[in-house]
Amino acid sequence: MSASKVIVSAAANVALIKYWGKANTRGNQPATGSLSIGLDDLRTTTTLSFSASGSDTIHADLDEKSCQRLISFLDHARVTYRVDSHFEVTTHNNFPTGAGLASSASGFAAMAMAVDALLGLQLSPTDLTRLARTGSGSAARSVFDGYVEVVPEEDAYAAQIMPSNDWPMDVLVAVTDAGPKAIGSTEAMKITASTSDYYASWVESHADDIATAKAALAARDFEKLADVSEQSCLKMHATMMTSQPPILYWRPETLEIIERVRSLRAGGTPAFFTIDAGPQVKVVCLPEAAATVKDALDLKSVSQLIETKVGGQPTIQTA
Ligand code: PMV
Repeated sequence: MSASKVIVSAAANVALIKYWGKANTRGNQPATGSLSIGLDDLRTTTTLSFSASGSDTIHADLDEKSCQRLISFLDHARVTYRVDSHFEVTTHNNFPTGAGLASSASGFAAMAMAVDALLGLQLSPTDLTRLARTGSGSAARSVFDGYVEVVPEEDAYAAQIMPSNDWPMDVLVAVTDAGPKAIGSTEAMKITASTSDYYASWVESHADDIATAKAALAARDFEKLADVSEQSCLKMHATMMTSQPPILYWRPETLEIIERVRSLRAGGTPAFFTIDAGPQVKVVCLPEAAATVKDALDLKSVSQLIETKVGGQPTIQTA
């Protein structure tokens, strides 16, 4: 049974073991796996209904290119599920868009779940993650709450490793510059894969990093998780920086926050940093350390501090 209107809320996620590089740009087939945490309070809310106008209509505070990506996603769904419907889409992010805060992850996960519910497709959770992946590689991971892995098989999919309640953690997102990023991740990944001397070793060492992170999660070993996560982040940025042309998403503010977090951790505070394709820094910590981390991030270079926790269970309402 299909619905006449669906409203989906999906959360952004941040990878601890990063995805950077595609085996195939068609369908965003990743070159490696990845491992993420859902960010409970950073959400996209998407309302989807059928359009009688014979074309898709997007109501969103998004640039032309991002709207076109949503329409391409709907084109893909029409071909895959053999439907000729057009859609009315209203989508809103409650956090800065396109600034390296994973708005495409929550956005395309919400779209995938909305299309599934509106058309009554009843996709399995695994196939839902594959559909979300065709919009954005990281979106596959936003279909689930908590600790999530992308399994880099031929048709890569995401799977939950453990729910957020099994190991509560807080995340502080230090926004330094909320403007759009200089270069999108698809283009930047292409440049990295084809020009960085470090790219081959990034791909080669990746499965070991995933295994180490999963073992750390299973043992609730915060230090081990912190080490491998910071290393994966720095390795990813090292491959970008050694590309031709070099890609550098960091700003002086980014480095200042990295230094703050490193000195906190050296002093015994259970906190570590991670950074995606942008200058913002996400600080992951045990809940008892959140107040200390928050105080340490009270810096001029932090224009906004978003406090959240590991979570991200999506919600779907149909009418
Ligand atoms: O899903 P994309 O194409 O926006 O790529 C995400 C890339 C990183 O955020 C930098 C890393 C990751 O695994 O999320």
